[in-house]
Amino acid sequence: MILVSPSLLASDFSNLEREMARMEQAGADWLHLDVMDGHFVPNLTFGAPVIKCLREKSGLVFDVHLMISDPLLYVDDFVDAGADILTFHLESGSDCEKTIQKIKSRGVKAGLSIKPDTPVEKLFPFASQLDMALIMTVEPGFGGQSFMPDMLSKVEKLREYCNHTGNTMNIQVDGGIAAPTAPLAVKAGADVLVAGSYVFGASDPAQAIQTLKQAGN
Ligand code: DX5
Ligand code: ZN
Repeated sequence: MILVSPSLLASDFSNLEREMARMEQAGADWLHLDVMDGHFVPNLTFGAPVIKCLREKSGLVFDVHLMISDPLLYVDDFVDAGADILTFHLESGSDCEKTIQKIKSRGVKAGLSIKPDTPVEKLFPFASQLDMALIMTVEPGFGGQSFMPDMLSKVEKLREYCNHTGNTMNIQVDGGIAAPTAPLAVKAGADVLVAGSYVFGASDPAQAIQTLKQAGN
């Protein structure tokens, strides 16, 4: 089954409660929350206090994507705010093993992400501890960028590795996912699709989510 996680980054920030409800009604499986610190990536979004307020207004699974330096320092804040899945970057400067263990010790699912220039093999040593890997299909930092087809071979390699090792983690892709690119990502082995502009910009978001969910058919 393909899961769809609409990225709130593409929503109307003046009414996040309404935007979350719109996605829930449209059939979103998860809600993707992009946290950017203006240091790890050249953009700023929102942090744990905003997520805490959103948590009170939505029953969706909160799929929090930390694009921040030293995420280990902030794990408690984001868990306390209500994250269900906490994904950080391998390039973030924190010790990956310690950060994964910290997230899991708080009863939250742990995800590890790589930027386009990072080889997928760097994920392998951590794979057995992960609930999810996120292969970025654009440079992190901004919504609305073009999908990078070169990333598909990374998804394929990770899926092969998981099949060989009996690993059942989710493989998520994020960036430039829309009707033409979703089937490519799913064919390569992704099972969680993040989509910002495609879903939030659609005149019929329910239809857009269904299109993504059927990308494997
Ligand atoms: C980019 C973010 C993405 C972004 C995707 O750094 O991690 O989640 O919102 O946006 P689209 O789907 O518009 O490429
Ligand atoms: Zn993201």
